[in-house]
Amino acid sequence: MRKFFLTLAAAALTSLALAQSGRLEIFSWWAGDEGPALQALIDLYKKRYPNVEVINATVTGGAGVNAKAVLKTRMLGGDPPDSFQVHAGQELTGTWVIADRMEDLTPLFNQEGWMNRFPKGLIDLISYKGKIYSVPVNIHRSNVMWYVPAKLREWGVQPPKTWAEFLSVCQTLKSKGLEAPLALGENWTQQHLWESVALGVLGATDYTNLWNGKLRFNDPKVVAVWNTFGRVLDCANKDASGLSWQQAVDRVLDGSSAFNIMGDWAAGYLTTTKGLKPGEGFGWAPAPGTAGVFMMLSDSFGLPKGVKNRANVLNWLRLVGSKEGQDAFNPAKGSIPARIDADITKYGPYHKWAMEAWKKDKLVPSIVHGAAAKLSFMTDFMNAINVFATKKDVAATHAALVKAAKDAGLQK
Ligand code: GAL
Repeated sequence: MRKFFLTLAAAALTSLALAQSGRLEIFSWWAGDEGPALQALIDLYKKRYPNVEVINATVTGGAGVNAKAVLKTRMLGGDPPDSFQVHAGQELTGTWVIADRMEDLTPLFNQEGWMNRFPKGLIDLISYKGKIYSVPVNIHRSNVMWYVPAKLREWGVQPPKTWAEFLSVCQTLKSKGLEAPLALGENWTQQHLWESVALGVLGATDYTNLWNGKLRFNDPKVVAVWNTFGRVLDCANKDASGLSWQQAVDRVLDGSSAFNIMGDWAAGYLTTTKGLKPGEGFGWAPAPGTAGVFMMLSDSFGLPKGVKNRANVLNWLRLVGSKEGQDAFNPAKGSIPARIDADITKYGPYHKWAMEAWKKDKLVPSIVHGAAAKLSFMTDFMNAINVFATKKDVAATHAALVKAAKDAGLQK
């Protein structure tokens, strides 16, 4: 009898899924090399809802530099994508939620029993005035240094543990004829490097104080960050602004550089695209001076107000937040699941390292990847780094950032 009812229930669910039709547009910057993890999730969606046409709308460009501009035009022009990739934290709440553009997803979290399936701190990041506004699919780590173990052995160097040590290893490598010990890419990857230098020089508390208004950008401690950053840039390739993050990683693989600081989507690239074995084909360590601290960011999806295919989006979000969805997406992406009940057997050695760190490290937010500040500040920050990278004018950079932080309400 029980079996009969279970079969009936399963049949009802299947017909519900089949009845689901129309379209679903998913907007993100996970194009090309960054695509396989998203595709795994879309494949699962297509399996559950075969009659829904999924439009995988991607705008190429690491860290969403281009996608975010397109998104802004669409959101302000009244043409929101059905669901879009957005970083948990200020990029979501300080930008789209306070502008009243997103639907409250608290009922979905309650229905799906998610309130105790995601870490409380993460739920806080996607909440505003007690309501929840997106579904996190992963946790990425920003402060990671990548290298090729065999190459380091050839050069006779170890992964440096502090930025001072890094600068000394940089000199050693230069004296061995390596022009650019550090591989660097386009502008946003320079900001990405900056946040690791800032964390390494300031430590977790002062780094966090930059984003809660307790430490001003022209404080002498921050001056030290810029001085170190300038010297670290001197270790990098001169053609950085023309390289994507993947091309910068490639420079480490082909031995033109020894190190690259990049988020752990690099682990996804190195394993999924390059087919390398973690620990052999590539190695990793905390960015210098940041052991014991996990600079986090999280990709999430939300439901903009006024979308065309609301019911399909809710089913998409259900999948994004499910254990099955997260365990399909994250092994290929390099990130760890946002949920606390992942099937650990599906993950490789890098992921296991990151999972351990996530449990025991101090957590701090990434600025470049939307956790710490809203979009307008991120744009000002990008401009300041651009100017610094060409002119190395510490005082002018401070003045620009003090103003930007004030404009963004980060500091008085
Ligand atoms: C980050 C994003 C990651 C990855 C990376 C490189 O902002 O959170 O998932 O896509 O950019 O594009």
